[in-house]
Amino acid sequence: MYYPDEIVEEVRQRNDIVDVISSYVRLNKKGSNYFGLCPFHNEKTGSFSVTPSKQMFYCFGCHVGGNVISFVQKYENMTFQEAVQSLADRAGIQLPEAEDAGARERENRRAQLLAINKEAGKYYYAQLRSEAGKRGMEYFKGRGLSDETMQRFGLGFARSSKDETFRYLRSKGFSDELLRESRLFNFRENSGMTDKFWNRVIFPIMDSGHRIIGFGGRVMGEGEPKYLNSPETPIFDKSRNLYGLNIAKSTKAKNIIICEGYMDVISLHQAGFDQAVASLGTAFTSGHANLIARYARENVRQGEMTRYKDILLCYDSDGAGVDAAKRALSILRQAGLVAKVINMRPYKDPDEFIKNEGADEFQKRINDAENGFMYEIRMLESEYDIKDPTGKSKFITDVATRLLGFEDPVERDNYIGHIAYKYDVAKESLDEVVRKQAIAGTGVSIAPKPMATRNEESINDASRLPQGRLLSWICEKPEIYGIVKQYISPDDFADPLYRKVANILFGQLEAAAPNPADIISMFDDEEDQRQIAEAFHQNVGNLESIEMQKSALKDLMINIKRLSITRTDREDNSFDTIKKLRKELEDLQKASIDISSIE
Ligand code: UTP
Ligand code: MN
Repeated sequence: MYYPDEIVEEVRQRNDIVDVISSYVRLNKKGSNYFGLCPFHNEKTGSFSVTPSKQMFYCFGCHVGGNVISFVQKYENMTFQEAVQSLADRAGIQLPEAEDAGARERENRRAQLLAINKEAGKYYYAQLRSEAGKRGMEYFKGRGLSDETMQRFGLGFARSSKDETFRYLRSKGFSDELLRESRLFNFRENSGMTDKFWNRVIFPIMDSGHRIIGFGGRVMGEGEPKYLNSPETPIFDKSRNLYGLNIAKSTKAKNIIICEGYMDVISLHQAGFDQAVASLGTAFTSGHANLIARYARENVRQGEMTRYKDILLCYDSDGAGVDAAKRALSILRQAGLVAKVINMRPYKDPDEFIKNEGADEFQKRINDAENGFMYEIRMLESEYDIKDPTGKSKFITDVATRLLGFEDPVERDNYIGHIAYKYDVAKESLDEVVRKQAIAGTGVSIAPKPMATRNEESINDASRLPQGRLLSWICEKPEIYGIVKQYISPDDFADPLYRKVANILFGQLEAAAPNPADIISMFDDEEDQRQIAEAFHQNVGNLESIEMQKSALKDLMINIKRLSITRTDREDNSFDTIKKLRKELEDLQKASIDISSIE
């Protein structure tokens, strides 16, 4: 944390979450909460909730959540400090000059690294246009790039030299240590610093604010590696940047095209498709999906509804491209986005397609882009022999399982109809198979599972539910804390994160009142913040009678105590602890819980 906790807490308290979020999202009051359309995923019904009493938000659809600071961070794509700064401005709070020397130092280093990249970019740019860069210029011209395109993307050239770029930058006054941190050079004890990029054409990589954060360099012709890329540095996070986004973010196009490579983006832009971006020599990540989600959102003012640009995947036609597309579809879906897939065949990639067929033909391919789900199903088809009746049934069962991934029944029904028609099965039969699969509980998420994200784990992990529910209940009715603490200690929370939260929450209650939004500020990790918001937004249920509340609370505590025993058994193995917990469980089971005082 860069600002002292008290300041962060003051900034948070002086920015009411409903006020702040209302300036971004249209909220409607329902009971004691507010609801609206989630700005972080595409939806038609409002599952995005804001709870004034807890000063938190949570989306029941895509499971993002947090406090007012995390909202601004996420919505504006800001760092924690930037969000605190912006909210402090909003509330007219004067922040102390970055008190933390470490923070100032880090900021300073980032600025220096950006300056190094900028100088290096200018250097490579000038070389391409000089005598020394003739080969590079020929290479780019040979690939059909115009001067204007080369300029727009700041393309450059690094000529053969051992340490020319290094010496140039040092002459600009950058320290050896910073130059080393820029990762633009190789360092060896005996030979010192040498240029990483030499005899390559250079593609500067910019963030959405047009600042150069890294470089890609391509060999001219054949050679390994084909592309050499800057490694990650404090200013270059590959999973949060997309090549071309600095230009594509201002496109007027109604869609965003995601492709694989530098040259794909550049060719598409040159052909007039300035909405193309690429992930940078890495697989598509959830960070990319969030970035896309933000830029895909088009606010249509008159209708006061959120419209989304179409998201189009334009990956290579080979096997690797298909796998990458399936993976990206699944990651996008987890971010609440549905993408379409552009077919490039018979060409390898959009660059080759454009070169051979031109822009008009490409536009036709955009218009014909296939729905992502139908694409996945078509790819799945090749894994079965659907000419064989048994093979076809197996395929249909597999499809049915994937259909369960749609939560919206209308949407699911549309797909059922579509698939039934396409694969010539009666809609009623497919309906029946889907229902059977649902009952069998085989509802796996659609598409080949990507690396399980923590997000998925947490949602699926049923044992977390009761723990979150108790935390949420205590916050809503702090009066029950006096009863809870007789039976449950923070250590009883089996989930490590919830255990930490319980520790803080119980501490707050001993001192004063619960303050869940403040708890969120104590966790830096976005995923932790999300999971905490998820816990605090658990519905305790509408329990009318005191009797029902009593038994629900008791059941909940018993459940948590049992989980606690299981965990201790697994992790601790200390017989005494388990014996103690078993005794506590017995007492709890026998106890008559008096919560009449809480009404
Ligand atoms: P491709 O091998 O498909 O190259 O890699 P390409 O985009 O068609 O490039 P050209 O047309 O031959 O110039 C796609 C992307 O994967 C990354 C790069 O970002 C590239 O644009 N890549 C590829 C690397 O980072 N390193 C490599 O060695 C190869
Ligand atoms: Mn290519």
